[in-house]
This record gives sequence, structure tokens and C-alpha cells, in this order.
Amino acid sequence: MDYLHIKGSSKLKGSIEISGAKNASLPLIAMSILAKNTVIIKNLPSVADIKTLLKLLTNLGAKCNFEDEHVAVDTSSINETKATYDIVKTMRASILVLGPLLTRFGHCEVSLPGGCAIGQRPIDLHLKALEQMGAEIDIRAGYIEARAPQGLHGCEIIFDKITVTGTANIVMAAALAHGETSIINAAREPEVVQLCEVLANSGVEIEGIGTAVLKIKGSDGKLLEIDEFEIIPDRIEAGTYLCAGAITNSELTINKAEPKHLDSVLAKLEEMGFCLTIEDKSITIHPIDKPIKPVKIVTQEYPAFPTDMQAQFMALATQAEGVSIIEERLFENRFMHVSELQRMGADISLNGHTATINGKSKLTGADVMATDLRASSALVLAALIAEGETDIHRIYHLDRGYDALEKKLKAVGAQVERLKEKA
Ligand code: EPZ
Repeated sequence: MDYLHIKGSSKLKGSIEISGAKNASLPLIAMSILAKNTVIIKNLPSVADIKTLLKLLTNLGAKCNFEDEHVAVDTSSINETKATYDIVKTMRASILVLGPLLTRFGHCEVSLPGGCAIGQRPIDLHLKALEQMGAEIDIRAGYIEARAPQGLHGCEIIFDKITVTGTANIVMAAALAHGETSIINAAREPEVVQLCEVLANSGVEIEGIGTAVLKIKGSDGKLLEIDEFEIIPDRIEAGTYLCAGAITNSELTINKAEPKHLDSVLAKLEEMGFCLTIEDKSITIHPIDKPIKPVKIVTQEYPAFPTDMQAQFMALATQAEGVSIIEERLFENRFMHVSELQRMGADISLNGHTATINGKSKLTGADVMATDLRASSALVLAALIAEGETDIHRIYHLDRGYDALEKKLKAVGAQVERLKEKA
């Protein structure tokens, strides 16, 4: 296993190029199950979760070939519709094949994803919506067994909670269904928007893209001709590197970004006193000569402040002069980075879903452990300004969602090495 060794308090300088969005790539790879042609997907990030999903499709019989900067996915050879536990347990977003497999083949078995470090993460809303569309669903021996021999039919679905992958699953299921499906209380994340746009470009009639009410006219089981497309930039990766510039008080430019996907994050950085130069596809954060201001953050669905940036802002808030408050409203256990930050000297107290961060704390390097994807990046940010050296262990969490993080940071001056744990 690898770990990151980071020497703190180095300024950063230069520019970082953002990769394609992991959370847009996953549904769009699953969407290839709806295609009759080979789907060319460009700008996929080289991260573990993408490799896992492509392996899952390959296990079902699909052909996935990486060529240069893109992947070609041919699902015409799929001869199996069982997504097995060994793969699904490593990446819960595998649930995204449920809707496409069911709507195309009329049956599938998908291992229940189970919870994960940040929460129980049920998929009841996915299953309830598919049953409303005519699926018969049983849970047997840890698997979802879904059948819709006559195909799925459109209907009106009201999501009790906004669910990103739930919306993606039902949009894809509806794309080949009989009749029109309305999704009320749909997720509006840019990753869901791109999925809808690619489907619309492939002939699926979708109204309300980007809004909370989607209407999808199904193709009556006809497979789609899907033209090649490029994955949108990863807004969470971009936000993470902006926090790296902020916490080290550096001049740092983020290129190949999509600023309009980051409004709530950029607003919080400005609220903390940072100055940003925002251009069409790049954002520059500038050093400040006054203390960082404390901040109040409540995580909510897009376009509000994203839960996936919560841990990173907590690390940054340890360097603000004053008391910051962060409330996590989406996941029940997304504060596991707190104890690791405390070990580095952060003064943070927890009361239920609310963290109170008393800054400014002097952080010192330590051995710390990554617990989940975004918590890992928060520890990297803290290590960049901690006095001394930090070893971040279990960085397989980080590798799930950040493409070449240590290379990107090293290229702008961070003292970071990827080393092998002693046997
Ligand atoms: C997506 O997860 C993202 N993952 C997560 O990013 C992100 O944190 C999350 O959306 C929220 O923005 C991918 O897109 C692959 P949800 P998802 O369904 O779809 C509850 C990262 O770091 N819920 O929107 O699984 C659920 O428990 C990852 O990149 C139900 O109760 O999240 C949660 O409280 C972490 N029943 C809330 O809804 C359901 O059937 C939002 O979950 C589904 C969800």
C-alpha cells in the first residue's frame, strides 16, 4: 500500500489542470449500456472508480478499450446482467448499472452496495422509482433481483429526497421505457445535467434539463445512437486545489475548470477574504495580507454548498482567525477527518451534525489515516501548511477520485512524495 509523505509550509505557484469529473464519468459510462453503437468517451479521469466501473462492464461482456485520452465502450457484446458483490463492494456507484441493465435487458441482478464510511447510503428511492415504472424487485442473498420482461413504463416519480445517482438511474431507465416519465425533485448537479444533455443529443426527448422537474420520453426499447462526448471538468477537484492555494496563501491558477459549476464554493472563498480572478475556463486565487475570515457553511444539494467540499473547507477553516461553523446535512457520518485534523493540532468540536472550528490553529505534521475520499484531500491540505512532516496512510481512498494529485501538487511547488508502506 502507498502513503503520501508531505513536508509542510511550502508556498505554491503556477497552474494546475483539472481532469474530467469522476461523478459525471460514472453515470455516463453506465449510460453506454443504452447504446447500439460503440460509445467514445473523452476526458475520463484516470482514477480507481472509473477503472472499477469499466471492469464491471467488461465482466458483463462489454468491450472497453482505452485509446489515448479516451475510452471506447461497446456494450453490444454484453451477455451477463449480474453485477457481482466482489466489484460492487469496492464502489457503491456500481448501482448506476441497475437502471440501464433493467431497461435494456428486462432483468438484472445487482449486489446491494451496502453502506460506506460516510453513511448508510440507502438506495430505497432508486428501487421504489423502478417499481413504480413496472419493475418487480426482490432482495435475495444481498442482491437486488429486478425484472421487467415487458420493459419499463413511464410514470410520475416524486423523490422524497434529492438523490444524485437515483436521478441518474431513473433518467437512464426512462430513456428506453414505454411512454413519458416525470421526475419531480430531481437532482440538478452538473453531472446529472451532462447525462441528460448527452441523452438529449442522442435523440431522447428530455424537458427541464437542469431543473428539479425532468420529463423523459422513452424510446420504447429502441437502443440509442450515442455520439462521442467529453466529460465536464471535475468541480470538486477544482475546489480542492483552490483550497490548496487558499490554505498556503499562494497565487495558484486552476485551468480547464468550469467556474459556473463552483458558484457556492467561490462565494465562500470570497467570504473568507480571498480574491479570485475568474475567466472562462480558469480561476486564479491570490495571496492575501490579512487574516482568513471564519465562515459558516451548511452543506446542501446543488447549487448550494456541496457536501463533497465540506472536509476541505474544514481544513481551511482551521487557519481562519475566529470561530467557523460547518453543518453537514447530507450524510450522517462525514466528519471522520475531524479526529485526524485534531491529531495535527486543530481545535474542532462536534455536536451532532455540526462542527465548530476555533482558528487559527498551528498544525504540526503527524501520521494520519485517510478514511474516505474527501477526508483524504482535507488531510493533504492540512499537511501542506503543517509544521514538519506528515504521512497520510490508506491513500487508496484518495486514488478513487483524484487523478495524479501528488504530481499536480508537486508541479506547483508542494513537497509531496508517494512512498510504499514498509512491509
Ligand atoms: C453522489 O452520491 C456522489 N457520488 C457523492 O460523491 C455526493 O456526495 C452525493 O451524490 C451528494 O452530492 C456520485 O455521484 C458517484 P445521493 P449519491 O443519493 O448519489 C439519501 C464523492 O465524494 N438517499 O444524492 O450516492 C442519502 O443517504 C461522493 O465523490 C436515500 O435516503 O448520493 C443521502 O443522505 C461521495 N435513499 C442523500 O439522500 C436513496 O435511495 C443524498 O444521497 C438515495 C439517497
